[in-house]
Amino acid sequence: MKILVTGGLGYIGSHTVVALQNEGYEPIVIDNLSNSSIEVLDGIEKITGKRPEFHQLDLRVKTDVERFFERNIDLSGIIHFAASKAVGESVKNPLLYYENNINTLVYVLQNMKYLTHQNFIFSSSCTVYGQADELPITEHAPIKTAMSPYGNTKQIGEEIIQDACKANSEFSAISLRYFNPIGAHESALIGELPLGVPQNLMPFITQTAIGLRDKLSVFGNNYPTPDGTCIRDYIHVMDLAEAHVIALKRLIDKASDSQFGVFNLGTGTGSSVMEVINAFERVSETSINYKIADRRSGDVTSAYAHTEKAKNVLGWATKYSLDDAVKSAWKWEQYIRKT
Ligand code: NAD
Ligand code: WQD
Repeated sequence: MKILVTGGLGYIGSHTVVALQNEGYEPIVIDNLSNSSIEVLDGIEKITGKRPEFHQLDLRVKTDVERFFERNIDLSGIIHFAASKAVGESVKNPLLYYENNINTLVYVLQNMKYLTHQNFIFSSSCTVYGQADELPITEHAPIKTAMSPYGNTKQIGEEIIQDACKANSEFSAISLRYFNPIGAHESALIGELPLGVPQNLMPFITQTAIGLRDKLSVFGNNYPTPDGTCIRDYIHVMDLAEAHVIALKRLIDKASDSQFGVFNLGTGTGSSVMEVINAFERVSETSINYKIADRRSGDVTSAYAHTEKAKNVLGWATKYSLDDAVKSAWKWEQYIRKT
């Protein structure tokens, strides 16, 4: 079965391509390489022995999207990762984010009508919950006013998909709300490749440990949490990848009676920034140069997933621990600095 994976050379997309191939699917990748590299194809091929079909295409170009779909009507599903994801950049350049995250989504959805099988998986985010009133966060938690244009594109994206479902009974979709993906494939042949200074905690830790960054700033230690630092739900990217394959299969098998579904993807366990640093120091046997800095604007205090819905409905649960994820992130960082 052919599956279109947009943004399939990016961080989560590349791991999902591997998971799809391992389950016997034939992923077809579209990526414009704006935040990834063509060498990711080599990494995927080394892991699975299969080089996915690749189209270097910018989904903002509507005519190119149309041409692709006219020639690929035999797809069994689409996993739509392609988007821009830097929260701070989205505040500075909101229109870029609305163009890249909303226009591209609309163009892909418009062209699904050509397909016999209209199954769609969307990359959403726990950011839609903002600071939730209750923890762990269930899928019923209210969607809070977005803290950034990036977050808003995920909320609007989900609304667009629901409206498209209402207008077309052939169309089925699942929105997956990721908590904090970290780590890399165990082979260290693919992983996260942040451009410039990393904004996220895990790559900043590994880059500090390898000597690329001088010091990690811990953004605030006066939050109302046990050690004063913020709490998040860090999920191994391979667990996340597997969830995509399972969600897709649910749509392909027509196992759901609702056209649109939402699932949290997290471990269910919250870890503080200091706990992540400690886990890293333990598994890598390397100490991290860090200092306590001011709070980062827009950070929520605590967010971790209620995981029952994914367990009960999808039959999916995470397999990897925080230590596993941190270890794989460190192995990847060491691998890329050597090559
Ligand atoms: P990523 O930047 O590594 O991957 C996105 C890929 O999409 C990149 O390879 C990029 O080149 C490609 N792309 C971007 N715009 C494109 C366009 N116009 N046409 C074609 N390709 C395009 O990001 P990621 O971390 O793998 O995230 C994947 C998805 O998951 C995104 O939608 C992101 O918003 C969402 N998400 C990510 C996280 C996270 O922490 N990484 C958390 C929640 C949700
Ligand atoms: C985690 C914790 C920081 C860097 C972001 C997006 C969210 C989602 C995931 C896409 C926080 C602290 C970080 C550093 C630090 N992405 N930190 N020093 O903020 O939970 O979520 O990525 O959808 O939308 O907002 O992840 O990795 O940036 O931060 O102390 O140098 O680490 O304050 O508490 P976050 P993160």
